[in-house]
Amino acid sequence: MSRGGVARVSISIPPDLLKELDDMLKKIGYDRSKAIRIAIRNFLTDYKWTQESGDVAGALILLYDHKSRGIEESLTDIQHEHGSIITSTMHVHLDKENCLEIIAVKGSSRSIKELAERMMKEKGVKQLKLAVVTK
Ligand code: NI
Repeated sequence: MSRGGVARVSISIPPDLLKELDDMLKKIGYDRSKAIRIAIRNFLTDYKWTQESGDVAGALILLYDHKSRGIEESLTDIQHEHGSIITSTMHVHLDKENCLEIIAVKGSSRSIKELAERMMKEKGVKQLKLAVVTK
């Protein structure tokens, strides 16, 4: 139902999740509608580009255990294989165990997806986030 430029919808959420949301909203001073609008926009930004075939740019953010056998060599090999879409890499030694790598990428959405999936398969990779911007 649409009235005055907004649509009213009803959604189902597990009670625990709703409580977590409301607790956070109390802390940051947002109402539910604003939070849901932001969440929907973020969701669309995160997934829209995966359905398109054009060029995109962004960053792969990787957290990995550098003591995991062969991980550094594997990640370097993968980056050499995908050299045409990687513009730069920043490496941060976080602590004794963890390394953070930020890989700037530019190229077709398909090739960037492939690179992210390839890296995610490596044993020792604890987290991988892909932030993409579209023009
Ligand atoms: Ni390191």
